[in-house]
Amino acid sequence: MNLNEQLLDEAKKVSKKAYCPYSKFPVGAAVLFESGKIYTGCNIENSSLGLSLCAERNGISTAIADGETSRLIKIAVYSPKTKNCFPCGACRQWIQEFAKGYNTEIILENEDGKYYSLYINDILPYSFELNMI
Ligand code: THU
Repeated sequence: MNLNEQLLDEAKKVSKKAYCPYSKFPVGAAVLFESGKIYTGCNIENSSLGLSLCAERNGISTAIADGETSRLIKIAVYSPKTKNCFPCGACRQWIQEFAKGYNTEIILENEDGKYYSLYINDILPYSFELNMI
């Protein structure tokens, strides 16, 4: 199993822990930082539906709370309910934040059960940056 397959495997495992009684759409994410550490997260929903937390942001939050300060290099995203589980717009902006200029790889599973990669600069062009003049 190569590194990308391993990350997808971790994303699959953590998707089983999702708390998603409202959408019944579990998602798991596995995040690799330049430090070499891998963190995982699942989606967590709430009866106040807009407060739901995505798997990607949960995984990144876990990394930051652990003291991670290196760049976000790869993130695998998986849901048993769909193939090609693209990160939502908010999660793309979060990935961009912790990429710190690196073109982070996003690893997804296609219809054939094979992994493939997208890159944050391609799926979030012209992203917001807090540049003050
Ligand atoms: N979800 C994620 O976990 N990641 C995404 O990038 C998109 C959506 C979750 C949020 C919600 O719990 C469920 O999927 C259905 O939208």
